[in-house]
Amino acid sequence: MQFTTVLGLFTALGGLTSALPHAIQRRDGGGVGITNNMQKDIYLWSVSDTTGDNMITLNAGGTYSESWRTNPNGGGISIKMAMQPEQTDVLQYEYTLQGDTIFWDLSCIDMGTGSAFTTAGFDVSSNEGSCPSASCAPGDSQCADAYLIPTDDHATHGCPSGTQMSLNIGSARPVRMDRLAQVSSHLNFPRGLFAGQTAIITGAGQGIGAEAARLFANEGAKVVVADIDEQKATTVANAINSSAPNRALAVAGDVMNAAYIDELVKRAAEFGGGKIHIIVNNAGFTWDGVIHKITDKQWETMLAVHNTAPFKLVRAAAPYFRVKDKEPRTIIQISSTSGIHGNAGQANYAVGKAGVVGLTKTIAKEWGPQFGVRSNTIAFGYITTRLTAAKEAGATITTADGTKVALGIPGRSTQKEEVNPEVAYADIPLRRPGTPEEAAKAIVAVASPWFSYVNGETIRVTGGRNT
Ligand SMILES: *[C@@H]1O[C@H](CO)[C@@H](O)[C@H](O)[C@H]1NC(C)=O
Repeated sequence: MQFTTVLGLFTALGGLTSALPHAIQRRDGGGVGITNNMQKDIYLWSVSDTTGDNMITLNAGGTYSESWRTNPNGGGISIKMAMQPEQTDVLQYEYTLQGDTIFWDLSCIDMGTGSAFTTAGFDVSSNEGSCPSASCAPGDSQCADAYLIPTDDHATHGCPSGTQMSLNIGSARPVRMDRLAQVSSHLNFPRGLFAGQTAIITGAGQGIGAEAARLFANEGAKVVVADIDEQKATTVANAINSSAPNRALAVAGDVMNAAYIDELVKRAAEFGGGKIHIIVNNAGFTWDGVIHKITDKQWETMLAVHNTAPFKLVRAAAPYFRVKDKEPRTIIQISSTSGIHGNAGQANYAVGKAGVVGLTKTIAKEWGPQFGVRSNTIAFGYITTRLTAAKEAGATITTADGTKVALGIPGRSTQKEEVNPEVAYADIPLRRPGTPEEAAKAIVAVASPWFSYVNGETIRVTGGRNT
């Protein structure tokens, strides 16, 4: 974002510009209209490198509009709005026309609580269903839909060049909308259940975590794909980016490494424009053995990955959860029915998975009262992942010191045809295992606004087993 550059340029060129509109007008109908819904005047400048010293006064209730125009130097056009003719407290709407696309963003780097723009709120909408909107509610001085720092470049949107956009200063919504926009404004969550939220999902390189990353992004979240396997994390993030541009960021590393935890939180906060809303502590694996044979290392590794790592991530992210901005925040620990009922051969895993139940309830009690953070555990039953596949299938995970741990259940049948569900899944009322996608849907559901009063719970997702 070139906010400071543009301001500097404007000052430098202030003396030698000609009248607006000087640049080429597009004939394809697109442009932007700005409405002042405040009870006071706004001062406006539409700046390219050849225009920009014409101050336009927008009276209370007044409007300004321009068709998309191009800047002779190839850069963008910056429409700056200020509360004073001296340009203090500036809101900037910047756009660049490139071929069939209009790129645009909003910035408001002085957006403190003292800003009149912050107080009034503002939003951008359009007549084009595929074009992202932006909305900064009155009083939101940390609004994620506007750049708040000059180096931040996460909010650039692309729309068809024929789009007609409306920027409203003050809380009134625009009246000019086409039918699609009218319909979507009647949906409860037209931009997705998690629009404007940022989620960290550990172990998101495959299985349940990867499915969850995809579903969160699909519902509008920005997703940090954390995984020990860099290639897998990158593949998942790229796949998300290709259908939902800029929604995913791969940050690879080992959750048992404290330095990685700090880096993960830092990069997630940067990606989220200073905010993190959701943590899903999903990373984990099994290292089975019967009690009389479990080694210290087997024991300690299970506690490190299932208890210490989630705790450290939650602790490191505390500054982003102990906040009072009224936005939803939720932490989900992924557990297992082994943690609730115990499981022969899994004393270490069972203790780890039971441990997060206590962490969940403690977070709920510490961060619920003042900050409204919800915290829940989801305990999965039999989900078809590499942890529940046949051990003979050969999946392994390598620990930090190079030890290879075999994953899976010895002797479990892999051949679908061989399985008689009445026998094989006799203990599951639905007579089948769950898919990773079904498991991920439960995670997304618990994180969603539909679960806004569910807190401190352990939710079992088992197809009815052991109920
Ligand atoms: C996906 O898009 C984001 C945001 O533009 C970018 O930072 C990231 O590098 C992209 N891909 C991956 C693999 O993270």
